[in-house]
Amino acid sequence: MKVFPTAEEFLRHHSPERPVLALRPHALVRATEWFVANFPGRVLYATKANDAQPVLDALAEAGIQAFDVASLPEMERVRHIDKAELYYMNPIKSRIAIVRAYREFGVRCFAFDSHDELDKVLAETDGANDLTLFLRIACPNTHSLIPLEGKYGASAEEAPALLLRARQRAARLGITFHVGSQAVVPAAFGEVLTQVGELIVSAGVLVDAIDIGGGFPARYPHSDPPSLDRYMEEIVRAADALAVKHTCELMCEPGRALVAEAEAVIVRVDARRGDTLYINDGAFGALFDAAFSGFRFPVRCVTPGREDLGPAETAFALFGPTCDSADYLPGPFVLPYAVGEGDYLEIGQVGAYGRVLANRFNGFGEFDEVVLTDEPMLSMFGERRSEDREGARSMRLERLRGSRY
Ligand SMILES: Cc1ncc(COP(=O)(O)O)c(C=O)c1O
Repeated sequence: MKVFPTAEEFLRHHSPERPVLALRPHALVRATEWFVANFPGRVLYATKANDAQPVLDALAEAGIQAFDVASLPEMERVRHIDKAELYYMNPIKSRIAIVRAYREFGVRCFAFDSHDELDKVLAETDGANDLTLFLRIACPNTHSLIPLEGKYGASAEEAPALLLRARQRAARLGITFHVGSQAVVPAAFGEVLTQVGELIVSAGVLVDAIDIGGGFPARYPHSDPPSLDRYMEEIVRAADALAVKHTCELMCEPGRALVAEAEAVIVRVDARRGDTLYINDGAFGALFDAAFSGFRFPVRCVTPGREDLGPAETAFALFGPTCDSADYLPGPFVLPYAVGEGDYLEIGQVGAYGRVLANRFNGFGEFDEVVLTDEPMLSMFGERRSEDREGARSMRLERLRGSRY
């Protein structure tokens, strides 16, 4: 991949026809090193957030050795990473996938949330005595912008019996949960850790690991979460109150927080109608969450020679390139009034659940790729608060217009 200092500099040499995914590996490394240094336990990466090879390689270089995977193709993606340890945390797996995970990919850690799934894992691993079994419990997702509840998780009534049964078969026993993605209140983690403590006492079992899942937030124009230090303080406080605190390994498996700010997409405006811009990526590309999850992403005009467009004060909506009305990103995306056809825009913070959700609908969904060495528009890490540039400005403007969260 070619390396440029900024999107503008890249565009001085190229006029890309396709949208361009712009990776900032230094942002990814910074986020990962922060988690490894500050989380009081083991940090896994949730492969689903972004499984691009350069992303996985940068994560590994920055200290990630364990990966939460949900499918055989995800195992394929990470298998080349030296000493990678795979955690198969999808609570519903096919029998063949369990067999192949255990035999071909060397997976020893499996999640389950029911007696049926526990039976399946035990049967398809031939009653192996080297398994780490994680019970996924249901928990409230009230503090998250993308709740994941309702699909997986043993209830408080079911969980004690499942734990007891798994304890008898597991080499190591764990509990896992997910507070929902983009959890904007640190107490989300403490509340569920308290619930886990009660479960351990009521089941009367010892557990060897507690995996608190993902959910750690990134920054967006519509969501400015508290600092990640606050999350760590909350987790340490709640974990300290657990009876098993001295014998139990704490784990987390962030996706979004490690990769969101490390990737942007550079798009071209192909038409302007009033305050609506028609661009060459959209809901079925890297911008799914802007169409379907109410997300706003920071945006700036990066066309070389158009630095004098004036202040970013006009609220635009965006349409993606497919012939489908759902390919609509309401935003608002705040840009200079004069932006129009032929301009290129950098849309930031799309590293998590961006490229992985892109599909080939209507013949779109292919990207060029480039590496940039400048700072992302928004960041949760380092001296982020003072360094944020356009992003912070547009965040203020959007607040004025009334924020959803
Ligand atoms: C089991 C599991 N772990 C981790 C994650 C990562 O979550 P996030 O990207 O919110 O950190 C997910 C996301 O849905 C998940 O399903």
